Amino acid sequence: MRKKIVAGNWKMNTDLDGAKELASGVCGLLNREVQGGTSQVPEVVLFPPHVFLPPVVRICADHQGISAGAQNCHQEEKGAFTGEVSAGMLASLGVTHVLVGHSERRAYFGEDDQMLAKKVERALAHGLTPVFCCGEMLQEREAGNHFEVIKSQLGNGLFWLDEIQIRKTVIAYEPVWAIGTGVTASPDQAQEVHAFIRKLLADKYEAGVSANLSILYGGSCNAQNARELFSRQDVDGGLIGGASLKAEDFIKIIQSF
Ligand code: PGA
Repeated sequence: MRKKIVAGNWKMNTDLDGAKELASGVCGLLNREVQGGTSQVPEVVLFPPHVFLPPVVRICADHQGISAGAQNCHQEEKGAFTGEVSAGMLASLGVTHVLVGHSERRAYFGEDDQMLAKKVERALAHGLTPVFCCGEMLQEREAGNHFEVIKSQLGNGLFWLDEIQIRKTVIAYEPVWAIGTGVTASPDQAQEVHAFIRKLLADKYEAGVSANLSILYGGSCNAQNARELFSRQDVDGGLIGGASLKAEDFIKIIQSF
């Protein structure tokens, strides 16, 4: 059975008090969900800014089914990279996941497929789960090139992994035109791409990989549209930006299975 996952990407938001409050708020509401036992509760991962990881890791450690992830890591093991944070440092804090290849990193920080492949390698070497993000830009979708773009991003960034390694990853499909815009991919559009990604996995790896790898949708996913998106066969949860910044909104998304 594939894992259902809801991840909150806080991006460059909150301050220390706000981060603690948000993490505690989510954990408290999640506890009620788990104890209520009425709905299927997915695995939850919070991705605060790096500097707030230690308190968020601590808060999550007291609760079941929730952990902290990092929004990025450097591709090298260590050394003279002023201002950067390595996968090993993150792992030593108790971080469980790391986002790799978010479209904002690709666009604003020039992260290319080769660099992303190295980040995936570093993350796995330290026991972190890479959440590998892929997705097309608006002009690519309008030109009908979205399948090619996604195939190439995954092929170069992720599918060089072997059978054992790929099983330790999560994929997030995030169409760039849907991120932070309020324009969500329709459930049909999301399902179509997720099924395509699963087919790519099936072509490359043995059947168990494609069947068991979680593929999340991201891009203006919120409490209003999550249920319909998550109801689609190949959508295993969401990577949530804006709507993860309020515990009450985020928990509604968590309840959407
Ligand atoms: P959004 O961001 O939910 O605010 O669109 C999603 C993301 O960038 O991961």
